[in-house]
Amino acid sequence: MKIIQTPEAMRVWSDEQRRQGHSIGFAPTMGALHEGHLSLIRAAARENDVAVASIFVNPAQFAPTEDYDQYPRPFDDDIAKIEAEHVHTVYAPTAADMYAEGYATYVHVEKVSQGLCGASRPHFFRGVATVVAKLFNAVKPHRAYFGQKDAQQCAVIRRMVRDLDMGVEIVEMPIVREPDGLAMSSRNEYLTAEDREKALCLSRAVRCGETVLRNGERNARVVIDAVRDLMREVTVDYVEVVDAETMAPVEIVERPVTLVVAAFLPTARLIDNIKFDPGEQQT
Ligand code: PAF
Repeated sequence: MKIIQTPEAMRVWSDEQRRQGHSIGFAPTMGALHEGHLSLIRAAARENDVAVASIFVNPAQFAPTEDYDQYPRPFDDDIAKIEAEHVHTVYAPTAADMYAEGYATYVHVEKVSQGLCGASRPHFFRGVATVVAKLFNAVKPHRAYFGQKDAQQCAVIRRMVRDLDMGVEIVEMPIVREPDGLAMSSRNEYLTAEDREKALCLSRAVRCGETVLRNGERNARVVIDAVRDLMREVTVDYVEVVDAETMAPVEIVERPVTLVVAAFLPTARLIDNIKFDPGEQQT
């Protein structure tokens, strides 16, 4: 396993791969890897000549009140899981490697990062966009793989890549769920048994919303009300039907949308979503 720590060393490796004509697939992570992450790493390895996974718990995307210090960091286990996927290059910079003394540059993606998670975590997407831009500059991937569970994050990154002419293909991979439907998340390990049981209402609620949409309902308010009804056990942060690209709320479903939900449990804040394309359903 080759563990690369500095942006300079990462760029040297990537430049050499590109010089040899190899396509580079990249799966950025914050570690604490579960099947969701492994699906990204597998796709990066399958669809490219070489693949890189990164492990970096990014301080810039945590508010001072959030769980940066507690965030799980099972580094050796993560390395073993990546190696088991036959990916042999990991980029694992330290916070000091990424944000040197005097660091002052941030990427702010307007509009798409406002609202939803951006409303309850105002610092979050600035931190994500900044670190992903920095990771792309070091890894120089042809394709980068992100999970659909973080639908707004995917939309923010796609917008940033287009706006800043980064030339990286963004591949969004489907949500990976536990057998009982809970969307996989590194933060699920914070849940008590009681909270985990309650958390199941998120996946039940988005499945219900999907059924309502598939049955022909096009009024977003009706869908939202049906979904909220199933989330009474948790403190809802938001339930919205949004344009799949801009993440702006829609009233009538006439183009691809994402039904997004977020809820606070005593031990974690969780998100889930489903995508729905009315055009696809008609064909
Ligand atoms: O989705 C994540 O794990 C993180 O937000 C990411 C994209 C690795 C940036 O830190």
